[in-house]
Amino acid sequence: MSAQDRRPPESPTARGLDPRALRYSASIAYDRRLYHHDIAASIAHARMLGRQGIIPVEDAEAIERGLEDIRQEIEAGQFPWREDLEDIHLNIEMRLREKIGEAAGRLHTARSRNDQVATDMRLFVMDSCDGAVAGVRVLQAALLDLAEANREVIMPGYTHLQRAQPVLLAHHLLAYFEMVERDAERFSDCRTRADELPLGSGALAGVPYPIDREFVASELGFSRVSRNSIDAVSDRDFVAEFQAASAITMMHLSRLCEEIVLWSSAEFGFVKLSADFATGSSIMPQKRNPDVAELARGRSGRVYGNLLAILTTLKGLPLAYNRDLQEDKQPLFDTVDTLLPTLEVLAPLLTAVTVDAARAQAAAGASYTLATDAADYLVRKGAPFREAHQAVGELVRYAESLGKALNELSLEEYRRYSPLFDEAVLNLDPRSAIEARDVPGGTAPRRVQAALQQARRHLREAQ
Ligand code: ARG
Repeated sequence: MSAQDRRPPESPTARGLDPRALRYSASIAYDRRLYHHDIAASIAHARMLGRQGIIPVEDAEAIERGLEDIRQEIEAGQFPWREDLEDIHLNIEMRLREKIGEAAGRLHTARSRNDQVATDMRLFVMDSCDGAVAGVRVLQAALLDLAEANREVIMPGYTHLQRAQPVLLAHHLLAYFEMVERDAERFSDCRTRADELPLGSGALAGVPYPIDREFVASELGFSRVSRNSIDAVSDRDFVAEFQAASAITMMHLSRLCEEIVLWSSAEFGFVKLSADFATGSSIMPQKRNPDVAELARGRSGRVYGNLLAILTTLKGLPLAYNRDLQEDKQPLFDTVDTLLPTLEVLAPLLTAVTVDAARAQAAAGASYTLATDAADYLVRKGAPFREAHQAVGELVRYAESLGKALNELSLEEYRRYSPLFDEAVLNLDPRSAIEARDVPGGTAPRRVQAALQQARRHLREAQ
């Protein structure tokens, strides 16, 4: 090798570029994270070029071996990253040239970084969707464990954060099971739409070679190839969709966390967090702070911001590729790095929750939560619901004025508000209230039991 050959290959794109402009444009600091997908896509492309006789088969083989080598170097932490090569694509291609020489120069036949990066991003989003669905499953299992372990526990259900009607804690937890189930569906939908191969679109117009796109698609696990080359290199709606699905998921997780924060306060006292998931205060020795739940609640804001970032990046772009699109990456990586750990940590957080059944049950019967049941009682005796509602409203105000609960009133007092009341109204309690709500989707114990079983079955089938 002459001295000339030993110099690292120059960037094919940054020749003569002002170093400040290069530094400003470089994405290598973060897009190196796409190395795995970038190499997989390049191997598939090289194989196809060889098979189609677009480049010599020996060159395709040398390219593939070189790329495998590079993958190992990266994974061993031995890859010589170069900041003067702006992105992951150029870093890998230039390293390949150092390893296999001239043949490396044939890899970029019939492609452009525009269809290359779109391909990498789709592969990354598809994997992230799989990761998110797996995370949801783990959380759902933890929700079910907690619900099953506290199957009998009755708590107040709330509207306006006012005690409303008794419900089973398990029913309340199953509400979250349903919410995150829809989140998982959104991620699989997102994956379905991301699942389309851009390679073959070239810079924007397609490529003038007899390529086999179906082959590349099947090598990479894509179900289909894109139908329009301009669309394929221009749009990042699949990133926006992933961000939206993540934002909605974080919103759900944040609500769950908010309830853990509320419930673990002395005011509610429905749950206690074990020491391994509650932090102490540096000055108040009595504190058991639900920091993990608070941070998860707080981090939802980051993910909303990332959704807004990609939508804003895309909204003014003329077709086709524009460099602005490089800005799709950091917010996406940040969302993945926020969402997946949040899903992962909430499962053990739920395991760290101990329910104070007595306290929840006491709250379930307090604050006139059985007033609706008293009204329903009158309805069963023939009163129109609106009249029953009014009579019980007056009854409650009367009880309140005495500082008494409904079950501390005598039948005689009840009857002052409606002659339809009789003995049995004195038996109303949280248990009878939940048992009465025996409709599909209701909180009656047998319905909740069936829902728990159904949820378990669903989880098993989803594995
Ligand atoms: N780093 C670029 C990106 O992330 C890769 C594509 C560059 N294409 C180009 N025409 N400059 O979008």
